[in-house]
Amino acid sequence: MVINDLDALVASAEGAFAAAATPAELENAKARFLGKAGAVTEAMKGLAALPVEQKKSRGAAINQAKQRIEAALQARRDALARAELQAQLRAEALDVTLPGRKRGSGGLHPVSRTMMRIEAIFRSMGFDVADGPEIETDWYSFTALNNPENHPARSMQDTFYVDLKDAEGRWLNLRPHTSPMQVRYAQAHASRHGTGAEMPEIRVIAPGRTYRVDSDATHSPMFHQCEGLWIGENVSFKDLKFVFSDFLRRFFETDDLEVRFRPSYFPFTEPSAEIDIAFGHGPLQGRWLEVAGSGQVHPNVVRNYGLDPQTHIGFAFGMGPDRLTMLRYGVGDLRQFFDGDLRFLSQFR
Ligand code: PHE
Repeated sequence: MVINDLDALVASAEGAFAAAATPAELENAKARFLGKAGAVTEAMKGLAALPVEQKKSRGAAINQAKQRIEAALQARRDALARAELQAQLRAEALDVTLPGRKRGSGGLHPVSRTMMRIEAIFRSMGFDVADGPEIETDWYSFTALNNPENHPARSMQDTFYVDLKDAEGRWLNLRPHTSPMQVRYAQAHASRHGTGAEMPEIRVIAPGRTYRVDSDATHSPMFHQCEGLWIGENVSFKDLKFVFSDFLRRFFETDDLEVRFRPSYFPFTEPSAEIDIAFGHGPLQGRWLEVAGSGQVHPNVVRNYGLDPQTHIGFAFGMGPDRLTMLRYGVGDLRQFFDGDLRFLSQFR
């Protein structure tokens, strides 16, 4: 019983320590056994009442029990500390096998790709690339292009007219086509190089945004055009046919393509033609599709360039890069290009 009460005390301490789930609980349990008013101290106090001959062995037994309790306490402290470390490691664990969160990568808009292609091909044929204003004067949009005020041909374009005049009192509009750039570029070219025989040929394309009151599967109120102009002393319709057909074959990377110049009317060209293409293969095989308007520049327009139509002649065209993009990628609705839906656009990355 004397030995057993100490064994029981040790067992009870071990049980209490094991039951402590946190360091704080463990320190409370320690106080109950090893503290000033703890069970071991109480047992020591009991020594005083013992006869001398029992004191020594009882004292030694209590000390031994105390050491076992201290050892159990230390073991439990270590175990709790280890468990805490493990829990912390688990909580802070990085699963290096998870797929990474990539930074989204952007891409070029499909129409931008088309524009870059058009520019590269025409540059390789010796054309300059020019840029011009999207808010344009009535004079450049129409009058300079042989399309006088109140002429019914102005209604060929569903123009966004703006109730505003520029500093010189000219009416403004959102340009309905890139053709004003013919006049702007040719004027600048002529004033830079002179207008006589010393003037180098004008060979330029002018890609950019254009605007019309128009919206369906093949028309968007904002769309793109690319103007082309080649003016020299002896530039003919034959050159137009060659240059444009060559461009189309290079753009679509196929010779299996027919090009048709269908007689048409524009105030600024005479004769005028719509340019249609038909593929000899693929889903659109054999269907004629209109991709551009074109023609030999009208003498009145050449005059508005600041040049003499007796000495300068050439052709112009205006194509629709959005249409070319639809054909190249097989997209059925033009408006998708401008909806800003990344599910659609990211397919072209
Ligand atoms: N500007 C015309 C249009 O938008 C296209 C064109 C350009 C036609 C140049 C002839 C010459 O429809």
